[in-house]
Amino acid sequence: DAGHYDTGGYEHYLLKEISEQPETITRTMSGRLDERFHVAHLGGLNMDARETRSFRRVKIIGCGSAYYSGQIGAQLIEELARIPSDAEPASEFRYRNPVVDPDTLYVAISQSGETYDTLAAVQELKRKGGRVIGIVNAVGSAIAREVDGGIYLHAGPEVSVASTKAFTSTAVAFALLALHLGRVRDLSPADGRRIVEGLRRLPGHVEEVLAQDDKIAELAQKYAGHAGMMFVGRVRGYPVAREGAQKLKEISYVHAEAYPASELKHGPLALIGPEMPTVAIVPDDELLDKNLTTLGEIRARGGRVLMVGHREPGPKLADDVIVIPKNEIELDPILLTIPLQLLAYHAAVALGRDVDKPRNLAKSVTVE
Ligand code: AGP
Repeated sequence: DAGHYDTGGYEHYLLKEISEQPETITRTMSGRLDERFHVAHLGGLNMDARETRSFRRVKIIGCGSAYYSGQIGAQLIEELARIPSDAEPASEFRYRNPVVDPDTLYVAISQSGETYDTLAAVQELKRKGGRVIGIVNAVGSAIAREVDGGIYLHAGPEVSVASTKAFTSTAVAFALLALHLGRVRDLSPADGRRIVEGLRRLPGHVEEVLAQDDKIAELAQKYAGHAGMMFVGRVRGYPVAREGAQKLKEISYVHAEAYPASELKHGPLALIGPEMPTVAIVPDDELLDKNLTTLGEIRARGGRVLMVGHREPGPKLADDVIVIPKNEIELDPILLTIPLQLLAYHAAVALGRDVDKPRNLAKSVTVE
């Protein structure tokens, strides 16, 4: 399946695909950012300005990691374009007879463009007159052909079963879409410029995170031996936590749970103890203090904490910290995801797993 594409000297496709992200993110943005008017050019949407202004809701569908990247996308659109947005697994959406609303923009996400549940959801939407765009990597794939328009990721072939570069490129595509929808509504030129400039800095920042590979490999050795791990985050950090848990489960077979940090005391705190470490997503945002309080609560119960964020919180609050560069707050989820990809990769290697082809899983799920 990878005839035209090899590991390029990397030990696994997964590590190659993680390492390619500065370039793949650059390709997703290429020719689409406008420095003069601080907008995004997305001609593939096939949508005129009047229509672009007309949507009152955005509904995002996808499966697995595509769904988690959709949660990041929903937050970006709601924050930047101020359009109510949410994401739902395509597999559930298509079976609950959803109301298909002419004022809603539907967005289907798929790396492969062949995921059966996502394709069937798109077909159902179209049957009922829904306006559907795709965020797809594989050019000319079934979903790309079915939608009314969309954004190609241009991330290149993704071979490893665990999605990495398609995930971050999808989040970047959503930042472009949010900019596009926002700049014909409320988003100011100054905020548009802030996001355009933040996106421009992103590939360099991804390089800086990737440069911490040795340190993250050591942390993976340290934490991989546990039977289970908890991943927590809030708001922008929550889909990141879900994706981090998914990556770890998928390729290392270590049990992982993801929760909003705010929900811990409503149940899962009972799991916390020395045998269940927590990976905490703690960006420098408006929830920093609340997140740090949660770290204190975890540590008070003997839980070990690996924090991913923008600063060292002090030895009382975390056992280990991965510090990532600060970009614009709305783009935090993209950079926060990268250390979790490397953590899962190195945990899987340390445990001797079949990294690129984990048991029981297929790269694209073309059956129900
Ligand atoms: C991601 O690591 C998984 N392999 C899986 O959740 C995947 O994202 C999902 O099956 C959707 O695939 P698609 O993007 O090709 O539609």
